[in-house]
Amino acid sequence: MTESPRPPITRVAVLVPTYNERENLPAAVRGVRTAVPTADVVVLDDASPDGTGQVADELAAADPQVHVLHRAGKEGLGAAYLDGFRWALERGYDAVVEMDADGSHRPEHLPSLLAAAADADAVIGSRWVPGGKVVNWPLHRKALSVGGNLYVKVLLGMPINDATAGFRVYRADALRVMGLDDVASQGYCFQTDLTWRAVRAGLRVVEVPITFVEREVGASKMSRDIMTESLRRITGWGVRHRARQARELARRPERWHEL
Ligand code: GDD
Ligand code: MN
Repeated sequence: MTESPRPPITRVAVLVPTYNERENLPAAVRGVRTAVPTADVVVLDDASPDGTGQVADELAAADPQVHVLHRAGKEGLGAAYLDGFRWALERGYDAVVEMDADGSHRPEHLPSLLAAAADADAVIGSRWVPGGKVVNWPLHRKALSVGGNLYVKVLLGMPINDATAGFRVYRADALRVMGLDDVASQGYCFQTDLTWRAVRAGLRVVEVPITFVEREVGASKMSRDIMTESLRRITGWGVRHRARQARELARRPERWHEL
C-alpha cells in the first residue's frame, strides 16, 4: 500500500490509443490541452490504415506537448497502453491518464479525475456509480457493459462498479507495484486486468462519475474476439481466485469473514 499522504501530481501524460481515428483525434487532443494545459498528450497509434499516425505527427509538430508513439501494427489496446506506460515511466511523469480518442471520454472530466488521484493510487471514470451516465449507447452495448461488470463482480468480488472502463488515472508509483511484465490481455479486458492487479496489490482505487458519450464519427473496434478474450480471462482469474479462497477457508475456517 502506498503510504498517505501521496506526493503531489505535477507531470501528467494523457495516453490516447488510436486505430482509425483521423477525424476524431484533433478534437480529442485539443480538448485535453484546453482542459489541463499542463498535461502532455501521447498518441499511441497502431499504424492506422486511415492515416491517423500522420494526423498525430502534424499535431505533434505544432505543439511540443503532443507526442506520438508509432507502433508497427494493430496489436490491441493492451499492448498499446503498455508501451505508453513504459514511455511515461521512463520520462518521470507522476501520473498517466488513459483516454479514448473518439469523443466518448469528455476532457471536461479530466480535472475531477486528477483531483481524485490526490488521495488515490488509481481513479476510474465510472459510468455505473451514482452520477455516472451513458449517452447514445444502443441497448446491447449497455447490456454488455452491465452484464460484463456483474460477471466481474461475481467472480472477482472487487468493490468496483465499472471495472471495464477506459477513462482512468494511474499514479506512476502504482504502475510500478502492479507488476505489468506479465500482462497478457490484448483487448479491452486489459482494463479489468489492471483493475484486478491494482486491487490485489492493495492499492486505493476510487471511482468518479463520468458521462460516457458514444462516438459520432468512425466505428468501435469492439469485436467477437475481444469479448471472447474477456470472458476467457475473467473466468480464469475468477476460478483461480475462488479456489485460493476455498483453500484458505479449509486451512483457517475461523477467518472466513476476512475472505
Ligand atoms: N492503438 C490501438 N490499438 N488503439 C486501439 C485499438 C488497438 O488495437 N483498438 C481500439 N483502439 C482505440 C480506439 O481507436 C479508441 O480511441 C479507443 O481505443 C477505444 O476504442 P473503441 O473501439 O471506441 O471502444 P468502445 O467505445 O467500443 O469501448 C469503450 O468501452 C469499453 C468497455 O467499457 C472503451 O472505453 C474501452 O476502453 C472499454 O473497455
Ligand atoms: Mn468508443
